[in-house]
Amino acid sequence: MKPLRIAVTKGRLEQKTIELFEKMGCDCSEVRNKGRRLILPVPDLGAEIVLAKAQDVITYVEHGVCDIGIVGKDTIMESGGSFFEVLDLGFGKCRFAIAGQGEEPRVEEIKVVASKYPNVTRKYFESRLMDIDVVKIEGSVELAPLLCLADAIVDIVETGTTLKENGLYVWQSVADISARVIVNTAAMKLRKQEMESIFNRAEAVINAGN
Ligand code: PRP
Repeated sequence: MKPLRIAVTKGRLEQKTIELFEKMGCDCSEVRNKGRRLILPVPDLGAEIVLAKAQDVITYVEHGVCDIGIVGKDTIMESGGSFFEVLDLGFGKCRFAIAGQGEEPRVEEIKVVASKYPNVTRKYFESRLMDIDVVKIEGSVELAPLLCLADAIVDIVETGTTLKENGLYVWQSVADISARVIVNTAAMKLRKQEMESIFNRAEAVINAGN
């Protein structure tokens, strides 16, 4: 049987995922010494890891070229898609928040919002029956209110340092975020047993950490 393919989001989630696999008793030396390689075996899981950008993790899982994906809830909320979300890994914790200039929240007055997450932003303000314009920004979205392009931002807040150092304040929390396990819908049926055994091992480690 060919190894299960697990798409893992490069960067912070990658590090936490490796730590999780090691706590599950897996030898991750190939991943730790990857150099520039992007597909790495984890023999103890009967799997190989595919390192990809968050959005691409979803693409590979939806198309079935990877069976499992590890990706932030932020990307899942922004992209949507057709897959199963099966497990909250409990790491990569942060939140979506509305932030702006001035300590006193002025959410009701917002007309223009800048965000790297236009779909999440539109959906949230629609749910509040507020008609706003969304400006898509690719990075360092904190600049938008400082440059007077927007009245507020919707962005990820982890420690709050970026907001603080740029004179911005959280006006409203929108949603909690953490790393999630997603599974291709066909693979869920075809390789259920193998995957369940991995998820059970992961859950045991996660629960032991609480
Ligand atoms: C995210 C987010 C904030 C920052 C929040 O950006 O967009 O800018 O982290 O973290 P903090 O609350 O701990 O300061 P990221 O580092 O992913 O970089 P990016 O702006 O290039 O996407």
